[in-house]
Amino acid sequence: MKWHIPSYILDIDPYVPGKPLSELEREYGAGTCIKLASNENPLGASPKAVEALSSVLGALNRYPDGSGFDLVQRLAGFLNVQPENIVLGNGSDDLLGMLARVLLKPGDEVIVPSPSFLMYTIVAQSAGATLIRVPLRDLTVDLDQMVAHINSRTRLIFICNPNNPTGTIVKRTEFEQFLKKVPPNVIVVVDEAYIEFTRDASCAKGLDYLKTTPAVVTLRTFSKAYGLAGLRIGYGVMPIELAQLLHRIRMPFNVNCLAQAAACAALDDVEFLRKTIDITHQGMSFLHDELEQRKINFFDSQANFFLIDVSRQAKQVFKDMLKQGVIVRPMTAYGFPNYIRINIGLPAENQRFLKGLDRIGIAQK
Ligand SMILES: Cc1ncc(COP(=O)(O)O)c(C=O)c1O
Repeated sequence: MKWHIPSYILDIDPYVPGKPLSELEREYGAGTCIKLASNENPLGASPKAVEALSSVLGALNRYPDGSGFDLVQRLAGFLNVQPENIVLGNGSDDLLGMLARVLLKPGDEVIVPSPSFLMYTIVAQSAGATLIRVPLRDLTVDLDQMVAHINSRTRLIFICNPNNPTGTIVKRTEFEQFLKKVPPNVIVVVDEAYIEFTRDASCAKGLDYLKTTPAVVTLRTFSKAYGLAGLRIGYGVMPIELAQLLHRIRMPFNVNCLAQAAACAALDDVEFLRKTIDITHQGMSFLHDELEQRKINFFDSQANFFLIDVSRQAKQVFKDMLKQGVIVRPMTAYGFPNYIRINIGLPAENQRFLKGLDRIGIAQK
């Protein structure tokens, strides 16, 4: 290659997102297909958020408020933290990138659970850091092994709670034991993209440890329970000193004006959030029973998705399900070549998914 690209960049496997619905519908016709591949909200977006967009449309010629003042104030009240603790991101992905840029350099080590959300590895690799992958134990983040891998080069530990793609959680008691063993110079990032869906009251919440040492950074998103994935808006809550460092390298207008307005309104739409959580939990019980009846193995999940054992190549199942008009996510890249992940859809979508599985012969009733 004629350019001088660092080898750690050339080593990155690009992130492969869920197939877009529009792509499949170009083949099969509009309104005929469903997507259960990206853990999105099947109800759409909060109606209040959609309404709030119209108030911004007249000012699209203006740059957004680079500080996200209104949203930061609303979030601070909602989370009971100082506005200075909050950094907004163009999705929580953006926060992952900012943390890596601020905290990592070649030679540093980052501890990640494996398998878990793939962006942790990508942001760490793009900073030239060395990844220490700690396998899940019983499909759960193995905090003891994470501690065992800490050394003088360790800078960051990522924890996904609930974990994507297994849906398992870290409990408060184990998290507290873990924190006691992490040295003060290591930062613990708890990614809570699916926290709104958890039913287990013992689930650890990063915000409870904002003032503890070591520093705990909590990441949340409006992409899932709030239904705003297309607008790209997430946030991090962290010690003020760290937030100030992120602001140094943050793109000045990283969160657009539509996203800011919609997120403010979505926070107020308690009814939509309730509906989303209810439909997700109902869908989970329904699919739980139906999969069990079909003797298909899957894992209990505290998020809005299931990891399902299809007992054959997931990539082939993905293709076969596309022919049924259903987009699922093969988990091959996550190290589960015989598993797919699906998020809970509307009741009719859940039925359609099962019908598709039956048609391609994954299991017969
Ligand atoms: C665990 C986890 N973290 C973060 C994200 C990214 O969320 P956002 O849309 O806010 O960038 C996802 C998206 O799928 C996720 O699963």
